[in-house]
Amino acid sequence: MSTKMLAVKDLVPGMVIGEPVLSASGKVLLGKDVVIAPRTISLLLLWNVCHVFVNDEAEISSAESQQEQPAAGQSILSNEFSNFFKEYDGLITTAVQSFDFIRNTNNIPVQELKDTSFGIYSTVLSTGPAIMDYLLVSDYNLADKVTRHSVMVAFISSIIGRKLKFSDDQIKVLILAGLLHDIGKLVIAKDSEHEPKAHVIHGGKLLQHVSSLPQEVLLGVLQHHELMDGSGFPLGSKGDKIHLFARIIAVADIFHQHAYDGEHSNPFPVLEHMAKTLFDKLDQGVCQPFIRHVRDCLTNSPVLLSDGRTGQVIFFNQNRLDQPIVKTHTGTILDLSTTKNISIKRLLSQEYLANAN
Ligand SMILES: [Fe+2]
Ligand SMILES: [Fe+2]
Repeated sequence: MSTKMLAVKDLVPGMVIGEPVLSASGKVLLGKDVVIAPRTISLLLLWNVCHVFVNDEAEISSAESQQEQPAAGQSILSNEFSNFFKEYDGLITTAVQSFDFIRNTNNIPVQELKDTSFGIYSTVLSTGPAIMDYLLVSDYNLADKVTRHSVMVAFISSIIGRKLKFSDDQIKVLILAGLLHDIGKLVIAKDSEHEPKAHVIHGGKLLQHVSSLPQEVLLGVLQHHELMDGSGFPLGSKGDKIHLFARIIAVADIFHQHAYDGEHSNPFPVLEHMAKTLFDKLDQGVCQPFIRHVRDCLTNSPVLLSDGRTGQVIFFNQNRLDQPIVKTHTGTILDLSTTKNISIKRLLSQEYLANAN
């Protein structure tokens, strides 16, 4: 099939990459035959790729389907992506300042934290459903681990709050609770750092006398490690004795802890873990809508397989969320639930992003 060179700004979702896209150092960023998704265009812009080769035939059919789409769809998407990253960077910066203040003074800068929470709330609102896609590739090393984790848990909690149809006011409080859930880690003594309960107790002590914080925030902090079957800590509370905000933060916390390892993202095993192993431990009324949402976001995502091949997730097996059906870059369809010894190693976009930075 013949290919044609196009500027990245002129790409539309549905076109097919005709020749591998290489980085300046010669690394393959996107393989031949990758179907361009909205996220692909955003990543190409992020990597400063100006032109790519696409299949001519795909271009024609995409041009036809483009006529059915809003005329400015693509440029809105690109703007949205870069706006998201600008907002995300800004939020991380203000969170770092607030968290450093807490570390140094043991005091809580309530207004600054509320401002950061409001920033997260408005970013979620303005970015819309695409935000999960962006979050899956945005956990790069802009700040220390506690700050990044706290901001991400706040973001993920707000996505769950929206899925559960919370009011805007409830979501703002939930975000603040997510942002502060591990606040005790900032003031913990080095010798009790590895005692899991210590950060919860220190967090409670830090916040209990801050009168301008809603009670739900304190409960979110104190109960985010409690589990539905009573096997959590610090009290071993069960079921609805655990505040709903804490049950939401527990889901967001576990997802973020397991899906990201600092440099790369592999959210597939944690989805399976949450759905099966943690079935009795997490609130399934919270967990299931979230899993469905992440699963939808991950469909079409580029992945690296354990045998070194790259591909795209095309369908999830209901019985094994970590073993979806993948189409490799050469067009082979692999059902990972029946393919021995091949698994997903990581989301590729995370690797690309790490390389690009
Ligand atoms: Fe925690
Ligand atoms: Fe946490």
